[in-house]
Amino acid sequence: MFKWDNRLKKDTLEKEFSSPNHRIKCRFYLKNNQIAYSVSKDDKILIKKSRLNILLCGETPIENRLKVTHIDKTTHDDTFEMLWGEQRLIRNNYEEAAFSIAEAASPHRIFTLRFRVFDDGVAFRYEIPAQAKFRQVTIKDELSEFNVDLNSIAWQIPAYQPDRYEYNYEKCQVAELENSVHTPLTIKTPSGYYISIHEAALYDYGSMTIKLDEKRALKSDITPLSDGTKAHVKLPFETPWRMIMIADSCLDLTTNRIMYCLNDPPKGDFSWVKTIKFIGIWWAMYVGEWTWAPGERHGATTAHAKEYIDAAVRLGITGLLIEGWNDGWEGNWLENGINNKFTVSTPDFNLPEVARYASARGVELVGHHETVGFVDNYEKQLESAYNYYAANGVHYIKTGYAGSTMIINGRREFHHSQLGVRHYQKTVELAAKKHICLDIHEPIKGTGIERTFPNLLTREGARGQEYEGGAISPSHACYLPYTRLLAGGMDYTNGIFDITNSVKHISTTLARQLAYFVTIYSGMAMAADRPFIYEERFPQAFEFVKSVSTNFEVSLPIAGEIGEYYVVARKARDNKNWYIGGITDTDSRWVHLGLDFLEDGIYSAKIYSDSEDAHYRENPYGISIYEKHVSKNDSLDIYLAPGGGFAIELRKI
Ligand code: NOJ
Ligand code: CA
Repeated sequence: MFKWDNRLKKDTLEKEFSSPNHRIKCRFYLKNNQIAYSVSKDDKILIKKSRLNILLCGETPIENRLKVTHIDKTTHDDTFEMLWGEQRLIRNNYEEAAFSIAEAASPHRIFTLRFRVFDDGVAFRYEIPAQAKFRQVTIKDELSEFNVDLNSIAWQIPAYQPDRYEYNYEKCQVAELENSVHTPLTIKTPSGYYISIHEAALYDYGSMTIKLDEKRALKSDITPLSDGTKAHVKLPFETPWRMIMIADSCLDLTTNRIMYCLNDPPKGDFSWVKTIKFIGIWWAMYVGEWTWAPGERHGATTAHAKEYIDAAVRLGITGLLIEGWNDGWEGNWLENGINNKFTVSTPDFNLPEVARYASARGVELVGHHETVGFVDNYEKQLESAYNYYAANGVHYIKTGYAGSTMIINGRREFHHSQLGVRHYQKTVELAAKKHICLDIHEPIKGTGIERTFPNLLTREGARGQEYEGGAISPSHACYLPYTRLLAGGMDYTNGIFDITNSVKHISTTLARQLAYFVTIYSGMAMAADRPFIYEERFPQAFEFVKSVSTNFEVSLPIAGEIGEYYVVARKARDNKNWYIGGITDTDSRWVHLGLDFLEDGIYSAKIYSDSEDAHYRENPYGISIYEKHVSKNDSLDIYLAPGGGFAIELRKI
């Protein structure tokens, strides 16, 4: 327990500390009881003097004769390994400065502001230690400002909306931001730097959205609970890390890994976790062939499941998702979530039988829990639902939280509120105990906790291909690498090859659907279309889906602009092949790919690219598939059609 120390009395302080390479500088200020910080890179201001503080309910603001009582400075440099992901080894190198702050007058409260300055970003968090008569607090507001130049450009999606994170990105001036927006909030400053404001290690606290406040400063807007407060916390307590990723180019931003540096190493042995590709009893429901609910066209029957298991084996795909297998989908399922039962199958579906059939054929089932946001109903069944799957040898579950809010403790709460965050965490930890991996749809945004809980293999948490058929333009997926994907992998439900389907027409070319397996990383990668489409209509294109890896040694962004295009090369961990994917907006373009990242030797390059007459509207199936031998001294010039893309597999021979 902290004891007030009268000897240290710094009520005015300005202290600068820098990143290991000295290009980024962070400055801490205490003056007139106000705490602030600023950030610059190469002596260009990125974050002007910005206020920091936390307001507590029922307490006077902590600004009564504030003093810095202690400063702790440390340097850290090590490299850690991610169990799976876009990059195996991550260097964690920063300078840390922790400022202990106290009130020199009653009630003598104390807290610490801890900063870490990396070569590619700055992070800070508030730490409130346990103190006499001060064991539990309610957060009224967090006053963390990120005072960027108002002329900066921002790429944003709105917060507090019924479809959660599932919106199209919009570009605007920071000065034009009207409502709260989600993080990662990617911004280009007038000096030409790219930054993204986000948070890391979000546990048991409202998630941070960002708004332009009355003083025209960007400020944290912590998602409220239904009681109007931001969070109820027990001391000692630390907020999530507030982080500002900083890069010289938008491409450099896409390999920023400080979010993982700011999370803890795995809690326990997760060597059982394996990334996976899967098909699903899924898209057939979206195109109206099958239904989630039982009836004549019910998708999740024992017979269909067995057919899909056989198809998975033929296609060389390990996993099969089965949606609509349980009790509760009848009628308007979006409203009836209170009825969902997670251990009761529909009469035409026999889980033990399907599980035995899958196991005999080496197929992993991906179970499904659609909660429709009825968290109370789900939590009552959580233990038994996970036990039921575990007992049937199911090691993967996709969960869903459709609905504009959640019902928790009988009240409507935001998905991204403290109670939402707490619920998602409960599922991840319980699943870990049962050796189950999760793919969370309608999730809480990624803040890097999959470093600590690697069984959280992927999330949705952005507009995915379920919105195709009108609500997605080709630019959408070109925004994701620079925005949403800075928060970790995403289940975008790739690989829809039946592009011109009359119910769901997709804004894509065929080659672009292959590119998504590389441009949108996911530890659980869905090949989302019906298996007969792959087998009967596009077996050659499917070869790429079959071979592409879901676990990479390293990822190298090659070219791109936010919302316009993105090209990335990734080296597989398992077979050391390289995979390259590229996508474009509605503009066609050529990309020049230097291959100097390859190792010595000859590679066979299998190229899946748009044909020169391909077009996402006029000729979406125009694809050319060809092979050639290349070495690191070669380069490739690849054409991307309007709304198109390409994928390349480079196999060492
Ligand atoms: C929304 C999810 O994103 C989608 O994949 C799922 O099929 C539906 N909810 C039903 O659970
Ligand atoms: Ca969704």
